[in-house]
Amino acid sequence: MSLELSAPTQSEPACADDGVWLECIECGAQWAPFDEIHYTCADCDSLLEVRYAEPPTFDDFEGRGVWRYNAALPFKEGVTLPEGDTPLHEVPDLQEEIGVDSLRVKHEGMNPTGAFKDRGMTVGVAVAKELGVDRLACASTGNTSAALAAYGARGGMETLVLLPSGKVAAGKIAQASLHGARILEVDGNFDSCLDIVQDLANRGEVYLLNSLNPFRLEGQKTIGFEILEKHYEDYGEYPDRIVLPVGNAGNTAALYKAFRELVAGGELDEDQVPTLTGVQAEGAAPMVEAVENGRDEIERWDDVETRATAIRIGNPVNAPKALPGIYNTDGTAVAVSDEQITTAQRQLAEAGIGVEPASAASVAGLRKLREAGEITADESVVCLTTGHLLKDPDAAFEAGGDPEPVPNDTDAVLDHIDDEQSALDAAIQGVSKATDSSLAAALGGLVAAYLGYRKLRSNGE
Ligand code: F0G
Repeated sequence: MSLELSAPTQSEPACADDGVWLECIECGAQWAPFDEIHYTCADCDSLLEVRYAEPPTFDDFEGRGVWRYNAALPFKEGVTLPEGDTPLHEVPDLQEEIGVDSLRVKHEGMNPTGAFKDRGMTVGVAVAKELGVDRLACASTGNTSAALAAYGARGGMETLVLLPSGKVAAGKIAQASLHGARILEVDGNFDSCLDIVQDLANRGEVYLLNSLNPFRLEGQKTIGFEILEKHYEDYGEYPDRIVLPVGNAGNTAALYKAFRELVAGGELDEDQVPTLTGVQAEGAAPMVEAVENGRDEIERWDDVETRATAIRIGNPVNAPKALPGIYNTDGTAVAVSDEQITTAQRQLAEAGIGVEPASAASVAGLRKLREAGEITADESVVCLTTGHLLKDPDAAFEAGGDPEPVPNDTDAVLDHIDDEQSALDAAIQGVSKATDSSLAAALGGLVAAYLGYRKLRSNGE
């Protein structure tokens, strides 16, 4: 398999522009980065990677956010809001409950538009400007469209987004809409949207800013640099493992590329590279299927479904870059149920970290692998949470408690707070949301029986 963890340093080809070029991950063909537009290899149609004459070192990094890492990016600066520099939260209760040596949560929901996509867009839109294109487009389960709309607006460019009709969370469409993207709702899933936008791009109608565009992943690589730097600063070592949700597998590919570049620069030994662990929803798990069968390729799933709509994807286009990342770091991939995702979303919320469902998949996956003994108690783990709670307010309401109507009067509000019946009603409602339906029915029955018993007693019977 190509894309080994350590690769011999490459000499700069004649097509390079200022030490930067594009290279096919399958046939090795090399292309000038900014003369013409290349999304995939013009010879064999495989994925392209951005390559640099000089690998980065930690000493090269200065400043904050994505552009701190410009020694590992094609430009020194870009259209910025600014992005990156997200928190690496401690979560002591979750760490203890799941049972690992250390657990940190890298909350990418804290980016300007509320998802990691901003890291890719700041670089992608800079490249679009260099190429001189004026109409940007993407297919999206929502977050990419929000980021494209915002960065396109900031860069003064026209934006077009193709979304699967009825399957995009409200917050994301609201962002695309207000930032001025033309929103085209396709009667199909994300994969069909991507097919169409790729056709439009190949016909020269739009500049494609999905993660198939290799420059997007350059920005997303900086998640890996930030995690390594901060973890080292806090613990004097790098994390053993990074667990992340997988949709199109762009982040998995990007993190692996960050590690390979640091290995090439002599900054990281091969055995210091964190194990990459991908998590998908059970209803959309073609990568997990490939990994479970030890395959180098995925088989497209035509029917996908999950509450985590951001990762409702059946054809992860970056799999040829991401699967080597998983295999060459001794990683794995695991599928989790929507219920496990919701439980993890609630637990993160209890730690003050508000995420959308897809993001919680990372924590759900960690728990599942820990329970199965595939992850051991001595590991230091970082879970990536990719998008903010406000992205999907409907999912948050479904997972959280409901408002309680009260009279417009302080004493009545106090009576309500102290009233055991209302407290129990709220508890029943919490129980029925927090558990699967059969357990909720049983618990609801028990609580109802208790209430009946109390009523009988208070009536003196
Ligand atoms: N988490 C969130 C919140 C996402 O929005 C996405 C992808 C992923 C995880 C998966 O990341 O593709 O790098 O494996 N969202 C894309 C979109 C598809 O259109 O917003 P990946």
